[in-house]
Amino acid sequence: MKKSLSSIVMLSAAISSMAAVGITSPSGLLSLEVDVDSKGIPTYSLDYKGKQIITPSKLGLNADETKFTEGFTIVGTDTCTVDRTWQPVWGEYSDVRDNFRELAVHLKGENPDRVMTVRFRVFDDGVGFRYELPAQNGSNYLTLKDELTEFNYTDNHKLYCIPGDYDTDEYLWSETTFTELPDALRNYRKHSEAQRVDGVTIQTPMLIKTKDSVYINAHEAALDGYPAMLLDVNPEKYTMKAHLVPDRLGVSAYLQLPFNTPWRTLIVSDDARDILASQLVLNLNEPCKIEDTSWIKPMKFIGVWWEMFTGNVKTWAYSDDYLAKPGVTDYSKLKSNGRHPANTENVKRYIDFAAKHGIDGVLVEGWNEGWEDWASYRKNRQFLFDKPYPDFNLPELRDYAKEKGVKLIMHHETAANAADYELQLDRAFQFMKDNNYDAVKTGYVGAVIPRSEHHTSQWMVDHVRHVIERAADYKIMVDSHEAPRPTGLCRTYPNWLAQESARGGEFESFGGNPPSHTCMLPFTRLKGGPMDYTPGLFETKLSYYGEGKDSQAGTTLARQLALYLTMPSPIQMACDLPENYERFPDAFQFIKDVPVDWSDSRYLEAEPNRYITVARLDKNSDDWYVGAITDENSRVAMIDLSFLPKDGKYEATIYEDAPDAHWKDNPQAYKIRTLKVKPGMKLKQKLAPGGGAAIRIRKL
Ligand code: NOJ
Ligand code: CA
Repeated sequence: MKKSLSSIVMLSAAISSMAAVGITSPSGLLSLEVDVDSKGIPTYSLDYKGKQIITPSKLGLNADETKFTEGFTIVGTDTCTVDRTWQPVWGEYSDVRDNFRELAVHLKGENPDRVMTVRFRVFDDGVGFRYELPAQNGSNYLTLKDELTEFNYTDNHKLYCIPGDYDTDEYLWSETTFTELPDALRNYRKHSEAQRVDGVTIQTPMLIKTKDSVYINAHEAALDGYPAMLLDVNPEKYTMKAHLVPDRLGVSAYLQLPFNTPWRTLIVSDDARDILASQLVLNLNEPCKIEDTSWIKPMKFIGVWWEMFTGNVKTWAYSDDYLAKPGVTDYSKLKSNGRHPANTENVKRYIDFAAKHGIDGVLVEGWNEGWEDWASYRKNRQFLFDKPYPDFNLPELRDYAKEKGVKLIMHHETAANAADYELQLDRAFQFMKDNNYDAVKTGYVGAVIPRSEHHTSQWMVDHVRHVIERAADYKIMVDSHEAPRPTGLCRTYPNWLAQESARGGEFESFGGNPPSHTCMLPFTRLKGGPMDYTPGLFETKLSYYGEGKDSQAGTTLARQLALYLTMPSPIQMACDLPENYERFPDAFQFIKDVPVDWSDSRYLEAEPNRYITVARLDKNSDDWYVGAITDENSRVAMIDLSFLPKDGKYEATIYEDAPDAHWKDNPQAYKIRTLKVKPGMKLKQKLAPGGGAAIRIRKL
């Protein structure tokens, strides 16, 4: 690790106002200026390649007790240059370079006597900044109502975004502009039990494309002890302002000083591939806090899961007696509904399948008491995390899985009763360890309990962080669903393998995800961390969950293989039913082969909402893998193999759409071919409408 303090410009000695201060990124691509306006409001602006992309935008925090908004003067700055490289436990790269120039601007308010530092880190691919509030004279307990941070853009740029919501991010993406945004937002259906924001408000991560084709991803990093940030948009002025998720009392955050806010992040480039490759959000997070990480193991898994979505008859619940009261009722006296896949015999079938095909884990949903009344908003929903249903013989399954070398993956659906989950947490984790589980999928479907909270308010941000830390104490890996969208904390807690926190593959059975959806997620949602998207869907004709009608997935079969590359995650599901994989064993071979941890990644082609082509090098071999996807239009991907080391001979196995494949009419038409390739070759790879291609390149 190399940290060099290049210069210390000035320390806060005299209380006299300084003129504007600025700093450029290491190679000068970006330059930032910080100033205070005539009212003493701090502002920042940002240039990219000599052209302004953020015009002077206000900074500040507003608490009940005191304001950190105006009357400020700059009383000093610190600058330094940092160039270091770190090694993530898992990820897209084995080495991540963290290279930035830092400017800490120390501000002092005249009346009252308030001090605040805004710390900026300017990288060649973007900027991060945060507020640092040291202990103050007088009030060190703040009831934060508002963050004034603005992002003022220069024109009616293109926006790629989803609606502002305090509870859910499971939306499709709009490709719109500032002026058209209000109309775009009106077209979204409201989710029940989620609180959509009524204004012209969007979520982060979101993406901008300017008329000069500069791409800007706006998000946050290291969200901890603070609520998630939405953005209020002024469609006429092309401005955005931070909108912190409040609790139901209207308070955004209860802070005790000293406190540092999360980083506000802008990833910037005129090459869309750089947005995908950027590690800026991870770089702004704290290094790994877990000393021994040897137990953290990337993995693939199948699950007793999709049966409950697509068959339309199977249930998570054991019994149809909806009067059953979890914790009170003796479940052995209840009658099974006979439609409960989490039963011993069926789980053994999945374990056998995983063992036969070298899949590491089997997730079982619906194994425990509580599902009978989970969906109700009014009842005090409670799941018991150490009470298997009578038809799920845990000791037998534990021994069976062990004998077969397969790991069972625990499921903790809390139905968003996070308060009760905290009470059960230690017992639940100990129960997992006693039964040989070391990974859990958590879930927070429904309205949050405590009822004062939202899914992304400060309390829930704290809750999820607590669950991750506690899990680490037990050496448990976590895949969380319906949790606050990720902000790179997986660097600090690498046992947090993935999150859902976006509209996932399950929506293929709720009407379908259009092909463009997965051409958008890597530009936005994935900048915070890996997604448990659940790829690997081979049967695309589905029944609409809960509604009995048909649902058509927006994908070809070959595209599903490519998603293992374009949606990188250290925990990847093969989401489909074993019987569907048995129908296409040659295509399933790719899912068996594809790694989940990489030492290098090269983004070859990219355009948001349109297409992505990426090559990745397996962390544990010399094999490269390529994935290419397109939206609903067919396309020829140009795969330039110059990433292959010059000295080698290689064989590529290509899993591709058949010439007549189409996501809607002919999704299962695929071909597999093998050819010798060498560095410098360019493959022209045809992708069907809604299609994709997946390639394994083995060194001979
Ligand atoms: C929603 C999750 O995203 C899904 O994966 C899970 O099966 C259900 N909740 C039930 O917990
Ligand atoms: Ca979900």
